[in-house]
Amino acid sequence: MAFSSVKLAPPIEVFALVSAFNADNHPDKVNVSVGAYRTEEAKPWVLPVVRKVEASMASDQALNKEYLPVAGLGAFTEASVRILLGEDSTAIQEQRVLGIQALGGTGALRLGADLLHQEANKRIAYVSSPTWGNHIGIFEKAGYEVRKYNYWNAEKRILDIESFKKSLLEAPEGAVVVLHAIAHNPTGIDPSQEQWMEIAAIMKERHLYPFMDIAYQGFASGDLDADAWAVRYFVNQRFEMCVAQSFSKNFGLYNERVGCLAVILPDNSLLSALKSQMELIVRKMFSNPPSHGARIVSAVLSNPALTTEWKENVKVMADRIKLMRQKLYEKLRSLGTPGTWEHIVQQIGMFSFTGLNVRQCEFLTKEYHIYLMKNGRISMAGVTLKNVDYLATAIHEAVTTVADDPKL
Ligand SMILES: Cc1ncc(COP(=O)(O)O)c(C=O)c1O
Repeated sequence: MAFSSVKLAPPIEVFALVSAFNADNHPDKVNVSVGAYRTEEAKPWVLPVVRKVEASMASDQALNKEYLPVAGLGAFTEASVRILLGEDSTAIQEQRVLGIQALGGTGALRLGADLLHQEANKRIAYVSSPTWGNHIGIFEKAGYEVRKYNYWNAEKRILDIESFKKSLLEAPEGAVVVLHAIAHNPTGIDPSQEQWMEIAAIMKERHLYPFMDIAYQGFASGDLDADAWAVRYFVNQRFEMCVAQSFSKNFGLYNERVGCLAVILPDNSLLSALKSQMELIVRKMFSNPPSHGARIVSAVLSNPALTTEWKENVKVMADRIKLMRQKLYEKLRSLGTPGTWEHIVQQIGMFSFTGLNVRQCEFLTKEYHIYLMKNGRISMAGVTLKNVDYLATAIHEAVTTVADDPKL
């Protein structure tokens, strides 16, 4: 038997939670596990601007199903890099930015990891502690030794900047450092602009290679330019770097797998060679990318009226999430739930890192049919005006009846 020694792999937590939620018949069940936007009715939302573009694509006889170029749809990668770096980006003007279409942000991370491994001899990658769990798996699978840099002070629920800087100072020269460009997952706490400047200065001095992951551009502030500040700052500091962009969240194109890897170079002398190597990596991995989502994004971004409409759609999502943070916070305060809950309104992006321990999370699922990650992360997108009181009451019960042991 070829597979006689196969072992059952551990479940992928977020997908297991979604399945369990779907199988649960409880009328009050709440899904705050997956990082996907929900409407006030707790339903998935196809952005109106996406529906509009899809309708016109469906009747466009000029579109066909031919393969895209290996590096992806040119109009898409150009537009993608433009919203990342800004209309007036000098790096773009100097033609030293390579954009490659990828299978979502995940695919962009993997392509970048492979490129750096193959062409820049990178072998060590640092990820934040905690981080989005897949960072570790993606870099391990690409042959890296994955190490962690300090990020979080769990007790105070704040960024531990001194410890973060210490990790960077101790990292070996040349190591890849994966940075969440905006709306850190899972903590929802980002460095301030001054802290980003300090991080950049250390990375310059230590010759560390930034690999930024931007999966939530627009989600934090509702403003795409403001949310790209850290990326643009690093580019202006003339770092060589990679950026993995995802359009899963800000375009709501989750299952279309739309992403882009942007590789920023010091000048354009090696751009063609790098692109040719990147194309070989893509060719051997999935040959060429899918077109549907990339066409939607490029159609929107190449039309000013549609772009404005899209930005409004993004703002609707960002604003609703902000409102839910406020409502959840107020409700916990009015219940007198022990502990401080300011972090719920201070954190940004899609998630709140509640500080609930594993047993409290299990209690919420078992007793209240509320599905959340065991690290206490909740997706604020799953909170609505209809379920926020229920959620707050359940959190109150969990906090007051289940021991708050920070070690758990
Ligand atoms: C921090 C972070 N990076 C990357 C991704 C990847 O997104 P996708 O591959 O779905 O585009 C996610 C998705 O949850 C994320 O949270």
